[in-house]
Amino acid sequence: MGWQTHTSDAALAPGPLVLGIESSCDETAVALVRGDGTIVAQAIASQEAEHAPYGGVVPEIAARAHAERLAPMIARVMGEAGVSLDDCDAIAATAGPGLIGGVMVGLVSAKALAMASGKPLLAINHLEGHALSPRLADQTLPFPYLLLLVSGGHCQILAVEGVGRYRRLATTIDDALGEAFDKTAKILGLGYPGGPAVERLALQGNAKAVPLPRPLKGSPEPHFSFSGLKSAVMRAAGSGAHAPEDIAASFQQAAVDCLIDRLEQALERAGPFPALVVAGGVAANATVRAALETLATKHAMRFTAPPMALCTDNAAMIAWAGCERLAAEGWQRGADFAGDPLDFLARPRWPLDPAADTVRGAGVKA
Ligand code: KG4
Ligand code: ZN
Repeated sequence: MGWQTHTSDAALAPGPLVLGIESSCDETAVALVRGDGTIVAQAIASQEAEHAPYGGVVPEIAARAHAERLAPMIARVMGEAGVSLDDCDAIAATAGPGLIGGVMVGLVSAKALAMASGKPLLAINHLEGHALSPRLADQTLPFPYLLLLVSGGHCQILAVEGVGRYRRLATTIDDALGEAFDKTAKILGLGYPGGPAVERLALQGNAKAVPLPRPLKGSPEPHFSFSGLKSAVMRAAGSGAHAPEDIAASFQQAAVDCLIDRLEQALERAGPFPALVVAGGVAANATVRAALETLATKHAMRFTAPPMALCTDNAAMIAWAGCERLAAEGWQRGADFAGDPLDFLARPRWPLDPAADTVRGAGVKA
């Protein structure tokens, strides 16, 4: 089934040891992470092959694949790390937002392990996993930071002020950016997942060749919109007047221009911030990263992007969010720590900033 396990010999390092489970979209993932940021062991199984024929993630297929893989994967990760449930200090799992069948598989597994071991359950918001992942990659990154979270299901700008303290400054009113990359790939016949394929093709194209819109650029509304860009890509491809590589490059440039414009606006409204951080699958895109780095330099901000493996969905970021929570709540080995109740329900939607307005189309997937 094609999943790999990586272990480090730091199983006995200090700090709490948290088992993390991720199953909110199309990656089944398990990780053991220490409070000092050591990834003791982890495994990840992509379902790309299962969903590729459909050009996108099919929720029912995803849930079944998680159910099939998760338990043996947990056993293997723990076995390879040489730790037992007794050695774990908490069991963390993504409890939303995401495709609900998959989230339930992961959360129920975590509940069962927590119940059997008497260890606390930590129901983690998947977006919090992404939001804190830069601190797993770079232990010296302090709060606050400005976070651009760009994935297949989300496109948000957040002020990350501390563990559990997130202020949403912008979100998408329609498509997420990763979704726009995936749809562009589909239109150009590049297959799924689309982001890396569009990026590769764009390398050979002219980013100025196809006139495409920059939705909401310069608008006082603090949000993103990508559906108009997608429609324009569809028209450009349908016209037959443009080479696919030019469409890919022009699309990518239009998307990057939107990101920078919206970030500039967020900085004007809520800045300054000492650091700019990017997370989520689209953070893998080199053109996106380069533009963000330039923006950070312009505003004298430190720029951090986690390594690729931590940008896309993974369980280390879920275990790490658990570690961050334990630290923030003053956890100590041996002292009572309740964690979340065992009747915690999986949530298809779960905004990181509950005070933020609900925006049509935002926050559906992980
Ligand atoms: O964070 P992630 O793994 O899963 C979600 O939580 O959604 O993000 C996946 C998204 C997909 O839409 C994928 O096409 C996009 O990230 N992506 C990229 C690149 N690599 C992945 N988009 C643009 N350029 C890339 N190199
Ligand atoms: Zn994600």
